[in-house]
Amino acid sequence: MQAKIEKIDSYSALAVKIIEDQEDQQLDFLSFREKLSFANISHPEKKKEWATARMAIHGALEVLNVPYPGFFKDEHGKSHSMNGQGYVSLTHTSGFAGAIYHRENPVGIDMDLIREKILRIGFRFLDQSELDFLENDPIHYTMAWSAKESIFKCQGRKGVSFRDNILLSPFEVGAGKIKGRIRGTDFADHHYTVEVRKLENVILTYTTW
Ligand SMILES: CC(C)(COP(=O)(O)OP(=O)(O)OC[C@H]1O[C@@H](n2cnc3c(N)ncnc32)[C@H](O)[C@@H]1OP(=O)(O)O)[C@@H](O)C(=O)NCCC(=O)NCCS
Repeated sequence: MQAKIEKIDSYSALAVKIIEDQEDQQLDFLSFREKLSFANISHPEKKKEWATARMAIHGALEVLNVPYPGFFKDEHGKSHSMNGQGYVSLTHTSGFAGAIYHRENPVGIDMDLIREKILRIGFRFLDQSELDFLENDPIHYTMAWSAKESIFKCQGRKGVSFRDNILLSPFEVGAGKIKGRIRGTDFADHHYTVEVRKLENVILTYTTW
């Protein structure tokens, strides 16, 4: 998979970056509070992931000509911009970090490596109706998992169950979009369209509220 920055439309952009060591000056754009958070991460791999995800947001903001506002996490783990403008979502997987920014609506992004073992844990995150339409194919299962991750991150609250509260409509293995909705929570019956890309051995999904 390659690094990329993509302007989706005039409101939103996404970026995928390779996780690597950063020189300190590459992180000068971080806010004072973020620099403190970064300094407090002790695990070297986590530090690289965290920094690369912030560089990805920085890249996405640049193509939209939005100044980097700095971001903080709420009690659910979701990041928000410090100046209250725009929405962001972050993801990391096997050597890559990704981010999406939208000027007006909440967003969710996720990247997942396609692995055989996902077929064995489907019952944990899939409803029976989803198990019925999914083929016994790790790509199809990873698409379902990643779509649910993106919807989860877009809504942002802990306690929403992938199996019980996020329901996907039937979709094909080669689908470019997945429809889903939240049920049985305060956001019951909110409908999402999740965009899906296959980038070599990784599934990337994103959605907007
Ligand atoms: C928190 C969760 C969304 C993280 O996803 P993940 O695939 O492990 O990791 P990713 O790298 O894709 O995403 C991590 C990012 O998610 C974001 N995130 C964490 N909690 C979030 C929330 N409540 N809302 C939105 N975004 C969130 C953070 O920005 C984090 O990045 P950061 O630590 O650099 O800031 C996910 O693990 C989770 O808790 N899911 C809900 C629990 C569940 O139902 N699991 C399935 C049961 S089988």
